[in-house]
Amino acid sequence: MEILIVDNPSKLANYAATFIAARVNQAERLVLGLATGSTPVNTYRELSALYRSGKLDFSKVVSINLDEYVGLSAEDKQSYRQFMNENLFNHVNINLANTHIFNGKAEDFAQECARYDSLIVEKGGIDLQLLGIGMNGHIGFNEPDDYFSMTSHVVDLSTETILSNAPYFESVDQMPKQALTMGIGQIFKAKTILLLATGESKSAVITSALLGPVTPRCPASILQLHQDVTILLDCEAARGILGAKGVYYKEIH
Ligand code: PGA
Repeated sequence: MEILIVDNPSKLANYAATFIAARVNQAERLVLGLATGSTPVNTYRELSALYRSGKLDFSKVVSINLDEYVGLSAEDKQSYRQFMNENLFNHVNINLANTHIFNGKAEDFAQECARYDSLIVEKGGIDLQLLGIGMNGHIGFNEPDDYFSMTSHVVDLSTETILSNAPYFESVDQMPKQALTMGIGQIFKAKTILLLATGESKSAVITSALLGPVTPRCPASILQLHQDVTILLDCEAARGILGAKGVYYKEIH
């Protein structure tokens, strides 16, 4: 695990975009696992800027998103499909047919999860997975649980997640209480993982995920066992690990 600490969120977005762009440009074809939420928004902006300046080509990228809300159609403005279109896909030369997100309006969610599982296998697995982290340690929408989930599934969102994400909806009642998510096993199988966290509010969860026990009670803690994971933090999110014994990190100024 490589832990990198940068001064502020804007440097983090810049570093993350450069990291992703290098992988995209090097590969003949790249399967990119994408995340939503507030953390990667600036990274997507930087990726769009790299594309506009001719330094990045998305034509060979296949994207697979981590999750989607149950009950929201691709056209719903709160759906993660719309989030991805608005924050990244509409600004770069990715072929929309190569972008994949769960169908939150599927008639049969078991079938939709099976379709997603097959899709990931058919595309050859995820080369680079971008992750945020929830306040409760979730990755994708894998909430704290008694076990690590292996494959795609429907999840009941935790109260903590509902409270964190409700501000994006007109009211808490309008926020879906369930989501479809890739499993921890599928995220873990990504060849390379880049996890981003910013702000003091993430400091406690970053400390437990990186320094605490590997446990499904803090789903991101599984990343301690991954062989190619980069954790990119701003100073605030890194506050709890700065100076801690036995942690190796690099500060980038
Ligand atoms: P956030 O969400 O980027 O909005 O903090 C992260 C997550 O829930 O994975």
